[in-house]
Amino acid sequence: MSTISSIQLLGFCGSLRRASVNQAVLDTIGERLPPQVSLVQARIDDFPLYNQDIQDEGFPEAVQRVARQVEAAAGIIIVSPEYNYSIPAPLKNALDWLSRCKPQPFDRKPMAIAGATPGGLGTARMQLHLRQTLIYFNVDLISQPEVMISQAHSKIQEGRVTDQASLEQLQKMLDELLRRIKAK
Ligand code: FNR
Repeated sequence: MSTISSIQLLGFCGSLRRASVNQAVLDTIGERLPPQVSLVQARIDDFPLYNQDIQDEGFPEAVQRVARQVEAAAGIIIVSPEYNYSIPAPLKNALDWLSRCKPQPFDRKPMAIAGATPGGLGTARMQLHLRQTLIYFNVDLISQPEVMISQAHSKIQEGRVTDQASLEQLQKMLDELLRRIKAK
């Protein structure tokens, strides 16, 4: 069983945008962790577009870096927008690269997903596609709570989540992720 005293989480944001509401959600989570739990944020904007020819010459250093971060993490949090009803290309590209690493670094990792959008459906369609993709990764993906932050521009201000109901959902998500990690 893991101890609460040494838990490192790794966060992925599916948006590369400076003023991203999803980055704000990840930053908010990072500020609300219990003592001795830390959140490192994975950088994916320096991954090349997936091409097996590149892989055959050797995994890019950026991919190897994040694969090592995944291996070192006790749990993973993905926070992402929805693009055209699905997973944003930068996040899917990163997952495609990491899925080719051997051993597969996500195997059996506790994971939580969340998303925020100015729209009304809270990234629900992206999250269903992400859950489908993650089947291959054999992660321990939590089902509840489903954190789908709609009308994000009224709930996220100055780079932080300000809406109480959303904060409570995020807290429940984090609690469940930590419960899974500690149960290992
Ligand atoms: C979007 N957006 C969007 N929103 C949504 O709820 N469902 C969708 O299918 C899409 N599709 C979509 C495609 C593309 C290419 C872009 C650029 C945007 C709007 C999107 O939710 C909004 O731009 C968010 O602010 C993006 O998240 P970040 O960058 O603020 O984290």
